[in-house]
Amino acid sequence: MAALRKTNWIWVDGEFKPWDEARVHILTHALHYGTGVFEGIRAYASNGKMYVFRLKEHIERLFKSAKIYFMDIPYTVDEICRVIIELIMINDVREDCYIRPIVFRGYGYIGLNPLNNPIQVAIAVFPFGKYLSSGGVRCCVSSWRRIPGYSLPPQAKACGNYINSVLAKIEALKSGYDEAILLDNNGYVSEGSGENLFIVKDRELYTPPIYSDILEGVTRASVMEIASDLGYTVHERPIARVELYTCDEAFLTGTAAEITPILEIDGRRVGGGGEGPVTEHIRRIFEETVRGKFSKYTKWLTEVSIRKLSDL
Ligand SMILES: Cc1ncc(COP(=O)(O)O)c(C=O)c1O
Repeated sequence: MAALRKTNWIWVDGEFKPWDEARVHILTHALHYGTGVFEGIRAYASNGKMYVFRLKEHIERLFKSAKIYFMDIPYTVDEICRVIIELIMINDVREDCYIRPIVFRGYGYIGLNPLNNPIQVAIAVFPFGKYLSSGGVRCCVSSWRRIPGYSLPPQAKACGNYINSVLAKIEALKSGYDEAILLDNNGYVSEGSGENLFIVKDRELYTPPIYSDILEGVTRASVMEIASDLGYTVHERPIARVELYTCDEAFLTGTAAEITPILEIDGRRVGGGGEGPVTEHIRRIFEETVRGKFSKYTKWLTEVSIRKLSDL
């Protein structure tokens, strides 16, 4: 995983601040109790333009996550979307990048009632390449279970939720794997530490449902739509752990991971141990989609012109 690469400006509570000056107080509520919600969005460089992938859907999810935690964002969805476009432009980003909006409880009071702490909103954008190896990853089933919805709703992309993912990720890395797959509280497959999961059996796709305590991924929804359009049947149903060992193909989806084939799970090769043909087919279409190569899916792209930057 690459270290952060700085850009010039970070947007904080309505102002563009120099990267190094975008700071918070040490007694920021979210730092202590995880009381923040965030998004991860990608923008792709293609044909002299930047394309933000499914911007509105990500920001709508940010607002839903905030609502769950009684956080009233003092901006509209459209305003946040416009700030993101402006941020890409003023940072003069001309390569694939990652966009990180975060809404969090700030400084003011200590203790578990967050309701008097101010809501702060910040957005950063920075160049970003592959998150997981594009050739594919070796996974293990984690000994940590995905947090059940009756304890912490996985539908909220909340900062505190990620402590669960961090435990699973560290365990996987320390055991010599690339990524962890977490089971839900009933022992069915839930998702990766930061990705949704699909398996392929007899050229049909299967992915865990919402009630397997997944984050409802924007990439997952995109893959389901692309796969159906390509004529594949997609099933949303609980997946037993053993199906991970016997499926023909498996892959992870996420904004960071995009579509990453799974080569091995718990020491068992998935299919032939390389990227399978269905995964390869969907991945190819997805990768062209995000760069604006398919008119059918340009509805998912927000174009940011980088040629106008000289006029700024
Ligand atoms: C826990 C978890 N599941 C799934 C995903 C995939 O979601 P998306 O495709 O919206 O990035 C992510 C990444 O955001 C995640 O952190």
